[in-house]
Amino acid sequence: MKNKVEETFKMRFGGPATAVARAPGRVNLIGEHTDYNEGFVLPMAIDRAVWIAFRARNDLRVKVHSIDFNETIEFSLDGLAKGGPEWGEYIKGVAWALTLDGTPIHGWEGVMSGDVPRGAGLSSSAALELAAARVFAEVSALSWDPMKTALLCQKAENRWVGVNCGIMDQLVSSAAAAGHALLIDCRSLELQHVPLPRGTVVVVMDTKTRRGLVDSEYNERRGSCERAARTMGVRSLRQIDEARLKHSEETLDDAARRRARHVISENARTLEAVDAMRHGNAGLLGRLMNTSHASLRDGFEVSTRELNTMVEIACAQPSCHGARMTGAGFGGCAIALVQETEVDRFCRDVAKGYEVSTGIAPDLYPCSPSGGTELIPLKKA
Ligand code: GLA
Repeated sequence: MKNKVEETFKMRFGGPATAVARAPGRVNLIGEHTDYNEGFVLPMAIDRAVWIAFRARNDLRVKVHSIDFNETIEFSLDGLAKGGPEWGEYIKGVAWALTLDGTPIHGWEGVMSGDVPRGAGLSSSAALELAAARVFAEVSALSWDPMKTALLCQKAENRWVGVNCGIMDQLVSSAAAAGHALLIDCRSLELQHVPLPRGTVVVVMDTKTRRGLVDSEYNERRGSCERAARTMGVRSLRQIDEARLKHSEETLDDAARRRARHVISENARTLEAVDAMRHGNAGLLGRLMNTSHASLRDGFEVSTRELNTMVEIACAQPSCHGARMTGAGFGGCAIALVQETEVDRFCRDVAKGYEVSTGIAPDLYPCSPSGGTELIPLKKA
């Protein structure tokens, strides 16, 4: 991937790039729909990423070619306006957020490509935002601050692109450490790097289904959670534990009650999962993943028939510790925690079972925990 963007850059821009920025996609091990409730999440950056080969310009223009879309965008930093291909809006959004922050930024030209599948719930858009932010930081001689940049990229997504997401995707893409998942306390933004249990691998199980309406359903769920918090007189559901919820349940409407139950139990499960990982207890981590899936399916209602089928087939394999949908839901990917020695057989058998049940050929592959956003300087040719 790095060579591909480097070579295409040379061809398109008639000279070598000075560096390559890489920002990874992610899976979420547990802690779903908790980030915008100031709760706990435990995502892991994966070895699939967005790559941009680039060099600075002497003016305020940004010119980017996407190999995957075979399209080029060009815009000026002193007159940012919406319009053009959707992927370009993520780059413009980052420029907008940096400018709004009062940061003077410079123009650049670049070539990008990625292998994070789009629309699959693996955060290809956060990866693109962070890769673009890494480029802006370099050409503008800004010091690299993963936390601050993740918050800026979230702002770009919320206010320029118009998706009301939480902080999880941007923060894990920027701040992950190789070999580890990342526990994020979404209230204090405190981070802890947690290793996977020895001898286990996370397998991505792409159902190959993509749903429309994800954004409106997402906003609806978010609205129900906020309503539940308001009714109980707190700023966010983070302030409520199981006992307090039991006590106030009657004051909530049905949807708010079901959503709140999920979020509050999921926060507790996420902390338990971290404990299980610290003790190398793959069995317990797997069971918590299974419970999380059931809660997302029945309480938060963001799973689909295909995701449920995939998870059931995965859990029936002797080598599987546990499985769940990952990301916002409504299609996309599930993940499974699998014994390392049995990964090939697991992928083969689950793919076969899923295709027989649904008629859809899925995509299954192991992923390894990757480091966060990085800059790779290139040697002068
Ligand atoms: C999407 C959002 C995240 C998070 C998850 C659900 O990935 O971008 O902020 O809310 O959904 O856990």
